[in-house]
Amino acid sequence: MALDRQLLQSIINEFTVDAEQLREIAANFRQDLKLGLNDPKESSLRMLKSYVGLPTGKETGEYLALDLGGTNVRVSRIKLEGAGRFEVTKKVGKPLILPGEYDYVGVGSTAEEMFDFLAELIDEAVDKDHETKFYLGHTFSFPSSQTNLYNAKLIIWTKEFATSGVEGHIVNDLLKEALERRGLINVEPISVINDTVAVLLSAAYQHADTYIGSIYATGQNNCYLESSINDPENVGVGGMILNLESGNFMKLTPNRFDKEYDENSEKPGEQRLEKMVSGRYLGELFGMALAELFDEAGEKYDFTAIDISSILMDESVDGDRISAIIKDRINKDVDSEDAKKIRELATAIVVRSARIVTAAFVGIIWQRAGSGKINKQHIAVDGSVYEKMPLVKENINKALSELLGEEAAKVDTMLDTGGSGLGAAISAAMAARHND
Ligand code: GLC
Repeated sequence: MALDRQLLQSIINEFTVDAEQLREIAANFRQDLKLGLNDPKESSLRMLKSYVGLPTGKETGEYLALDLGGTNVRVSRIKLEGAGRFEVTKKVGKPLILPGEYDYVGVGSTAEEMFDFLAELIDEAVDKDHETKFYLGHTFSFPSSQTNLYNAKLIIWTKEFATSGVEGHIVNDLLKEALERRGLINVEPISVINDTVAVLLSAAYQHADTYIGSIYATGQNNCYLESSINDPENVGVGGMILNLESGNFMKLTPNRFDKEYDENSEKPGEQRLEKMVSGRYLGELFGMALAELFDEAGEKYDFTAIDISSILMDESVDGDRISAIIKDRINKDVDSEDAKKIRELATAIVVRSARIVTAAFVGIIWQRAGSGKINKQHIAVDGSVYEKMPLVKENINKALSELLGEEAAKVDTMLDTGGSGLGAAISAAMAARHND
């Protein structure tokens, strides 16, 4: 069966953000930033205070870094040597779900199970040393309300996490209890930061002119340095970093696939931007649209962002790779013409994602510049979608030019791999004030 070209085109149109809409999203994002700075209740951005500014680059010492936020948990030991230098001396990691074996994030999983699992991994990272004192920095990549660098309470799970007993709790208290249960009282958690904040700390530790940190992966979110906030609890320089939780930005026009996905998601009504752009959702949106093209609307097709990436990578005339993926996932035979159409659909979904993400970047850049000129700057980004998804970087650059014109030359995005771990270690050094 040949896929209907007209239907495909109308679906592609639904996934298209044209120049005017792009500008509108950026302007609305800026407006929400302004409103949120005044009063976060007025804005769809959470504007969460992190109680940390930029590092000086002089942070030193060895720290444990725990990174919890996506499908894998990682624990590393990182030695900060000052002057932007560091060494990762140990790294362990495990997935949070191993099908058929365990699941620490799905419905039915509990805080105790999840944090015991983290403590076990930390034990591995310290080589079962229960004597030496370790300070631990924790990158916890979910919306948390903080009163200082330690005290972070999970507001609401995102990215379809559903573990009970964590929402409303101080995450490092849960971690401390689990460490105690395991006899690891020598490990002391002293800071909690969002992964966007970690990326910004990590990038700023190594490069000047970085004020925006972003994650473009399972989830999507941004933070930036707000120079107007002074707080006695704040550590670091230049102001306070605000975690925007921009995945929750609402002033967008979801299409019918976005709406349907949201209605059936773990947290309907929440994270509307994220559900349109991040790796956790791209495969599902693609599956829903494809089901319609195969005249099976409503059928659940299981595709992942990795499938989309493979589909986009196949630029061959006959589209063999695409046909093989389709055959494997939904047992349909497609010829080269249909394979091409399927790639067009995947392209539309990914390009929309990159354009919306860029509009948010520009909203922040405009807000930081105020009525003045835009500074020369890097936007530090980490995450598999940014790093690996075809078409993303070029469409970010294109959208930056569309929105900023000549001034786009002053802005670039910079990959900061491993920032979640390094940033956690830097935040621990800052909390311990080992930074002179
Ligand atoms: C989700 C989380 C946010 C995190 C992002 C990237 O949006 O709510 O805290 O930064 O995913 O991991």
